[in-house]
Amino acid sequence: MSGKERMLITGGQPLQGEVRVSGGKNASVALIPATLLSDEPCVIENLPDIDDVHALVDILRSLGAEVDYQPGAQMRVDPRHADGYTVGYEDAQRLRASYYFIGALLGRRGKAHVSTPGGCRIGQRPIDQHLKGFRALGAEVEERSGMVQAEADRLVGNVISFDMATVGGTINVMLAACKAEGQTTLINAAKEPHIVDLANFLNSMGATIRGAGTDVIRITGHPRLHGTVYQVIPDQIETGTLMIAAAATHGDVTVHDCIPIHMDALSVKLLEMGMMVTATGDSIRVRSTGPQRSVKVTTQVYPGFPTDLQQPMCALLTTVPGTSRVEETIFESRFRHVDELNRMGANITVIEQRTALITGVPELYGAPVTVTDLRAGAALLVAGLMARGQTEIYEPWYIDRGYEHIEEKLRSLGATIRREVSQ
Ligand code: EPZ
Repeated sequence: MSGKERMLITGGQPLQGEVRVSGGKNASVALIPATLLSDEPCVIENLPDIDDVHALVDILRSLGAEVDYQPGAQMRVDPRHADGYTVGYEDAQRLRASYYFIGALLGRRGKAHVSTPGGCRIGQRPIDQHLKGFRALGAEVEERSGMVQAEADRLVGNVISFDMATVGGTINVMLAACKAEGQTTLINAAKEPHIVDLANFLNSMGATIRGAGTDVIRITGHPRLHGTVYQVIPDQIETGTLMIAAAATHGDVTVHDCIPIHMDALSVKLLEMGMMVTATGDSIRVRSTGPQRSVKVTTQVYPGFPTDLQQPMCALLTTVPGTSRVEETIFESRFRHVDELNRMGANITVIEQRTALITGVPELYGAPVTVTDLRAGAALLVAGLMARGQTEIYEPWYIDRGYEHIEEKLRSLGATIRREVSQ
C-alpha cells in the first residue's frame, strides 16, 4: 500500500459486455485457516488473488504449514508440520478473518494465542459470541493485552445459541466443533453462502456437519480429518458490485461464473427499480432500459439484502429521481462513504446513524475522494464510473483486499480506469 497511490476514473460511459467473477473472499478466508484441521495436504482452487488471501498464506507459513500458492491458480497447504499456535499483532491486524485461526488451532491442537483482528472499521465488532462458543466447548479463554488465549485439553460438544446471527462466530465455532468429542448444535447460526461452502469443504475432509445454510447446524466431531481438493464458490459481493455498477452506468453487463440464487435480494431490488435482470445458469445479465425508481433498502442477514452491498447501492441511488431510504441494521457505523459521495455532488443525509436518505441528483461529478473501508471503496468505484469527469480515489489498497484485478474487469466493460503512484 502506498500513501500516494490513486485510482483515476473518467466516468460517464455505460458499462457494456461480459465479465467473469472470481472466487469468494469471505468463503476463501474461512477455508484457508480450516486446512489446519486436516492431517493431510489440502488443495483449494478458484481462490481470488487478493490481499486477504496473501495475508492468510503468510500466517499459515508462520505457523509452520507448507503452502504452495500460485496467485490465480490453486493453493496446496500441507499442515503436517504446522506446530505453531501464535498469530501476532502485525499479521492479525492485516484482516478480520485472522481470528479464524483461533477456532482452527483449537480444533487442531487445543491451543491458540491469536491477537485481536483487524478489518474494516464499520462498527465496534466484538467477538463475544466466538469466545462464548469456545468456552461452551470446554476451552479456557482469556483476553489479555490484545491477545485471545484459548486452550483446551479436550473439546467436548455442546449446544451453543448465538445472541445474533454472526457469520464470524458461526464459522469460528464450527471450526473448533469439528474436532470436539460428540455432538455440537449451533442455534441461530448464520446462513450466508460462505457458511455452506465451509461446511461442504470440511465435510469433504471427513467432517460431519449438517444443516449449514439453516439457522441450526449440527456437528459431530472427529479426531482426525483427511485431505481434500475443493473449489471455492464465486464471490457473492463481487457479483453484486458488478451488477450495481452496470445499473449505475445505465449499461448492459452479463456476469459469468456466479451463483444467481445468491443474488436474489439484490436482483429483486434492481427489478423494483426498473432494471432488467435475467439469470441463466451461472450468469446474470443486468440492463438499465429506462427510468429508475427510488426504493427502500434494508440490510439483513442472508438471504436478505447483504450489508456488504449497502455501500455500493448508496452510490447507485444517488442519481435515481426521488428519495431512497437505506437502513443498515447489521453494523452501527457503515456510512463512512456518504461524506465522500456528497463531495461528488450526491445529496445524502444520515439520520440516527443507521439510516441514509438519498435524494436523487441529475448527475455526480468527479472529485478527489478517499477510501475508508473495503465496501466504501466499492461505492466510490461505482460513483466514479457514474460521474462526469475524473474521480481520483485515494487509498485504493482497501479495494485490493476484496476485489481481484478490478481495474482489468472494469476496463473490459469499457471503463476508463487506471492506477497512478505519484512521487
Ligand atoms: C463477516 O463479518 C464479513 N467478513 C463481513 O464482510 C460481513 O459484512 C459480515 O460478516 C456480515 O455479513 C468476513 O467474512 C471476513 P458478523 P463478521 O459476525 O463475521 C455483531 C466485507 O466487506 N457481533 O456477522 O465480523 C457484529 O458487531 C466484510 O467483506 C457481535 O456483537 O460479521 C455485527 O453488528 C465487512 N458479537 C453483527 O454481529 C460477536 O461475537 C454481525 O457481525 C460477533 C458479531
